[in-house]
Amino acid sequence: MHVFTTVSQIQSFLDHARSQHNYISFVPTLGALHQGHLQLMEHARAIGDIVVASIFVNPTQFNDPSDLEKYPRPLRSDIHKLSTNGVDVLFLPMDEEVYPPGLDLKVSADLTGLTDVMEGPSRPGHFEGVVTVVKRLLDIVQPDALIMGQKDYQQQAIIAEMIRQLAIPTKLIRHEIVRDKDGLALSSRNARIDPALRPVANTLYKALLQAKELYLTSDIGDVIDICSGMILDQGFKLEYFTIIDGTTLQPIHHWEHHDSIVVCVAAWLGEVRLIDNKIIYPNKSSIPES
Ligand code: PAJ
Repeated sequence: MHVFTTVSQIQSFLDHARSQHNYISFVPTLGALHQGHLQLMEHARAIGDIVVASIFVNPTQFNDPSDLEKYPRPLRSDIHKLSTNGVDVLFLPMDEEVYPPGLDLKVSADLTGLTDVMEGPSRPGHFEGVVTVVKRLLDIVQPDALIMGQKDYQQQAIIAEMIRQLAIPTKLIRHEIVRDKDGLALSSRNARIDPALRPVANTLYKALLQAKELYLTSDIGDVIDICSGMILDQGFKLEYFTIIDGTTLQPIHHWEHHDSIVVCVAAWLGEVRLIDNKIIYPNKSSIPES
């Protein structure tokens, strides 16, 4: 695996790869890699000739400075995981490479509506930071395919819209959520869950399955009440449990007339904030999620 720390190094390598007609697939990350990230790498491997991953703890997407400081950085083990999971190139830039002084990196896409729901209100500036860094990384890597996880449904929908508005010639591929055996969505935050609370952590997933079960047969308001109740009963502090249109991300009031419907949840279990979601329409067996 090649490890590049500067823009000029990675660009000259990838310029050459492109001139040989290699298909480049790209997976950006913040590091602290788990099996969810690694399955994205596997997907990238399956479709690409050259698999590029990046690890960059992007300061502009952290609205809380102490969160940024505390973000785990197990670099040696991350590098080992990537090199043994089919990654050809790791881009590991310093802040100055991503944000060189004097470069105007403002992204001229109108993403309001998508950024001000769900995760938006509790994380001011977060999505602006994500959009800026992903656009910058796409400019540097110029991949044919970008692979992102459905775990962060809103993030992936915002990037899809940015790619659409700016006509960026990269195909966004959404990879389904990778879960623990009991259904808990994998996340680097799971390590911080109080072991005494870990047995109920999969309640979010159970509530999403319940919503899918009630799809079409119950009113949306009732579904939200029932599923929220399941979560509250297990001692979670619920931030939102919402049923949205999968493209506009706006809450829906009727089951009909939507190309896709997604149930999204964010809740605190003790000191740890967890998010999860489930696409309840279309059915996965009829249209693949990725
Ligand atoms: P990070 O949280 O490291 O996640 C990197 C990618 O892994 C994202 O696309 C995320 O959705 C995906 N991912 C995380 N957990 C997953 C799971 N359990 N199943 C499937 N995919 C999962 O998201 C970011 O980094 C950053 O915001 C980034 C896009 C890199 C921009 O800085």
